Amino acid sequence: MSLDAQEKYGYFDDSAREYVITRPDTPLPWLNYLGQDEFFGLCTNTAGGYTFWKDAKLRRLTRYRYNNVPYDLGGRYFYVNDDGAVWNPGWKPVKAADVAYECRHGLGYTKIIGSRDGLEVEALFFVPPGENLEVWKITVRNRSNQRKTPKLFSYQEFCFFEALNDMTNYQRTYSIGEVEVEGSAIYHKTEYRERRNHYTLFACTRPIAGFDTSRDAFVGIHEGLHEARVPFCGQATNSLAFGWNPIGAHQIDLDLAPGAEESFAFVLAYVEQGEEPKFDAPFVMNKSVGRAIVAKYSAPGAVDAALAKLKDYWDTLLANFQVECPNEHAQRMANTWNQYQCMATFNMSRSASMYETGIGRGMGFRDSNQDLLGFVHMIPSRARERILDIAATQLSDGTCYHQYQPLTKKGNADIGGDFYDDHLWLVLSTCAYIKESGDVSILQARCGFADHDTENVTSTLLDHLETSLAYTMKKRGPHGLPLIGHADWNDCLNLNCFSTEPNESFQTAGDVRDSKAESVMIAGLFLYAAREMAELYDFLGHADDAKRIRADHAEMLATVENTAWDGAWYTRAYAADGAVVGSKSNVEGQIYIESQGWCVLGGAGADNGRARQALESVHERLYTKNGIVLQQPAYSTYDKALGEVTSYPPGVKENAGIFSHNNTWIHLAWCKLGEGDRALEYYLSICPSAKQEQIDTYRGEPYVYAQMLAGRDAPCFGEAKNNWLTGTAAWTFVVVSQGLLGIQPDYRGLRVDPCIPKAWPGFTATRRFRGDTYQIRVVNPDGVSKGVKALRLDGQELDPAGTIPVIGDGKTHEVEVVLG
Ligand code: BGC
Ligand code: NOJ
Repeated sequence: MSLDAQEKYGYFDDSAREYVITRPDTPLPWLNYLGQDEFFGLCTNTAGGYTFWKDAKLRRLTRYRYNNVPYDLGGRYFYVNDDGAVWNPGWKPVKAADVAYECRHGLGYTKIIGSRDGLEVEALFFVPPGENLEVWKITVRNRSNQRKTPKLFSYQEFCFFEALNDMTNYQRTYSIGEVEVEGSAIYHKTEYRERRNHYTLFACTRPIAGFDTSRDAFVGIHEGLHEARVPFCGQATNSLAFGWNPIGAHQIDLDLAPGAEESFAFVLAYVEQGEEPKFDAPFVMNKSVGRAIVAKYSAPGAVDAALAKLKDYWDTLLANFQVECPNEHAQRMANTWNQYQCMATFNMSRSASMYETGIGRGMGFRDSNQDLLGFVHMIPSRARERILDIAATQLSDGTCYHQYQPLTKKGNADIGGDFYDDHLWLVLSTCAYIKESGDVSILQARCGFADHDTENVTSTLLDHLETSLAYTMKKRGPHGLPLIGHADWNDCLNLNCFSTEPNESFQTAGDVRDSKAESVMIAGLFLYAAREMAELYDFLGHADDAKRIRADHAEMLATVENTAWDGAWYTRAYAADGAVVGSKSNVEGQIYIESQGWCVLGGAGADNGRARQALESVHERLYTKNGIVLQQPAYSTYDKALGEVTSYPPGVKENAGIFSHNNTWIHLAWCKLGEGDRALEYYLSICPSAKQEQIDTYRGEPYVYAQMLAGRDAPCFGEAKNNWLTGTAAWTFVVVSQGLLGIQPDYRGLRVDPCIPKAWPGFTATRRFRGDTYQIRVVNPDGVSKGVKALRLDGQELDPAGTIPVIGDGKTHEVEVVLG
């Protein structure tokens, strides 16, 4: 890679596990997430973003205006007034020209350093593990040879918790804002007097010279954030907000000798009052919990100890899987960023990013099940809880609420259900969890259906899995293929929508229950899920159940082979009137990616050469250097029989965009066929770390996967959009860890069955699994891609085709794998 390209906006500091951004004017705001458990923040490279507790819609603590001008405005801002010159360490909002800048996005923290005229201000933002607060650690250094007396102003805007109301209902919100200030602590207590029993605290651990809580006073009425009144005139007004827009701003006056520095912190906390009295006196809130928080983080060393805890947290999690391999991109992504993104998708599902506003989609049924696949090796216990939460939003007929709110864990009635792939993903996540943890007890965990009595639950998770598979077997159309409902994984292939009304949602319109439209992709997914389930039953010793499920698998497989083969690939669907979709007989949309991936992964085409042929067709017709486009030819006109997919301009989103998520199924399919060179080439085609040379085209963060890259039909071929919250995160981790490197958790132990490029001499990996640590060394003396000819555990020969048994002594074990 040329240094120019690498250094244009930043670079990976692999040993620090940081991406270092060297100039603030990145091609788009580059985002990081703070928080790992229940308290989260979005933080861009110019300190933009917001904070919420558990649920970005129902417990939003600070405000953010989406699609602002510029895109990213508002966040955790500090203004410096150094002898009249006003600037921000993170460049925005003032954008002073002569500020030296560096931003380090790390795991759960972002550090931004700005300096100007010998004064350096470092702002470090993070959420300590297990805490419901953000810490903003500030260090101010006088690097000049003169005494400096700068003033520093903090600034962020409070949100009234329910984010949708907050940004729409001004006839109420302009009148309800309330705050209290005590010393350096600002308490945002809007609605605390009535139904709410919680508040937001924004406090400084150091004495302050003033504060503001009224936006109008701090910023002005006609001013923008870049010309906010208080920092420019250098004096806070001690305003107490009553209505309008409460903010939190502190003024810190510093006096620094040459070479001197001072550090202090701010905490931004969510506090639930619990059982304690709500008020100390009329209108005076009981601040005991808030005071304890301020005291805790004011103690010497407390902030650094919390930061050390965060670093430990990530070191421990990532130690579960580490690899050294010949490809720097694969290694860096697998070791750090891909796993990190999996934590974000696990926590956020598709709720809050620069593209998801946090008020639209909560946790997606299919999304969250898939997200688990890349997360379960990190914290299996949280995966267990999530699986049961998701399953509880399934209905007793087998269909599911498509989404639910994380705060309430209740299905979202607005979007409803009837996406007939949803339930099948539950089988994948549950099997992955059991393989990782060995915990079969989850199958017997009581887990209700959303339409049943929630008091006396008798159904188990296993009932949910059975119901899921049975639904797909039962609900089939004229070709014997599964019905599609509103859509399958491809949300935009709406075969029952027939929408001609621009104001209705493609996702919910249409009468689906009586429709005959069928999905080949769901058939492929069913094949995969059924095989998983049969293997689970084998392991449990339930031979009859395994046999029953295998019979269903065989029946569906025959249906796929008899009805969905189009000559050189698998078709995609049958429309409501029986017309084929994804066939050479169509004018546009002749070949789709999803059915190739899932049919091959589900075992179709294995004995008759069709699997390979389908993948070769993908290579020939869909593969590009920026990844595999979703279908070809792109749709050029709207077709109401196909729905939203034809509403997009050619080359974007589901209309022939490169939808990274579904690329991964082809990567795995190549691995299944033993084609390691293809698998790595394809893997790299969408890998963000490998996009730095074309970063001005790519535009997205080089450290996380994008949902979509523009396809070759678009004028901006290769441009990334919708970064961070995509199923690509989990699935690419499956590709690299289980496909390419071949380290596969299984019911009885670990399997190692790599599929690597022939030129790789081998690799080493560390995998923690069920309490033991495996040091894996793979050697490739014959230059093959796949095939294990020798397998040794602590020097002892094992069956090369077998599983490494679980030892369970908590120790480190050496695994040697010889390919050939
Ligand atoms: C997008 C899909 C998305 C769906 C549901 C569509 O507009 O193209 O990718 O899943 O909306 O929000
Ligand atoms: C994004 C959605 O979150 C996901 O559920 C869906 O499968 C893809 N879009 C493809 O349409």
